[in-house]
Amino acid sequence: MTTSRSRPRPAGFGRLAVRMTALTALTAALALVAACAPAFRGPPPLEALVGTDAQVVLGERVFAAACHGCHPNALAGLGPGIIDSRRPNWLIRLQVRTGLGAMPAFSTAELDDVELDAVLAYLDALRER
Ligand code: HEC
Repeated sequence: MTTSRSRPRPAGFGRLAVRMTALTALTAALALVAACAPAFRGPPPLEALVGTDAQVVLGERVFAAACHGCHPNALAGLGPGIIDSRRPNWLIRLQVRTGLGAMPAFSTAELDDVELDAVLAYLDALRER
C-alpha cells in the first residue's frame, strides 16, 4: 500500500523551505561580507593631483599600492593619518625604512629610493592642496 504518500503536506513546501533557507543564508553572507569589508578598499579619489608633476603622479601610484591600504587617502585607517602629521620627511623616510609598531618596514627592493621620494613629494602635494 502507499502509506508513505498519505502524509498531508502542501505541494512544493519542501522545495520552498530549502529555497528560503538558501536565500536567508545568502543574505546573511552578503551582509557579513559588506560589514567586514574594510572601508578603505577603494582607489584613492585624488584626481585633483593627477596631471601635475610627474614625480607626484608616480608618488600617487606608489602610495596607492604600498600605503593606501593602511593610510586611506593619507588619512587614518589601520595607521594614523599622514596628511595632518607634522613629521618631517626625514622621519617619514626613517619610519618607512625601519617600520614602527604595526607599520611594516619597506626594503629598497619593495620600494626603491626614487619611489619613496615620489611618495614624499606626493604627500607634500597633498598637504599643499
Ligand atoms: C600594514 C599597514 C601599514 C602600511 C602598509 C603602511 N603603514 Fe604607515 N603606519 C601604520 C601604522 C599602524 C602606523 C602607526 C605606527 C605607530 O606609531 O606605532 C603607521 C604610521 C605611519 C606614519 C607616522 C604618522 C604619524 O604622524 O603618527 C607615517 C608617516 C607612515 N605610517 C607612512 C607610511 C607610508 C609612506 C607608507 C607606504 C610606503 C605606509 N605608511 C604604509 C601602518 C601602515
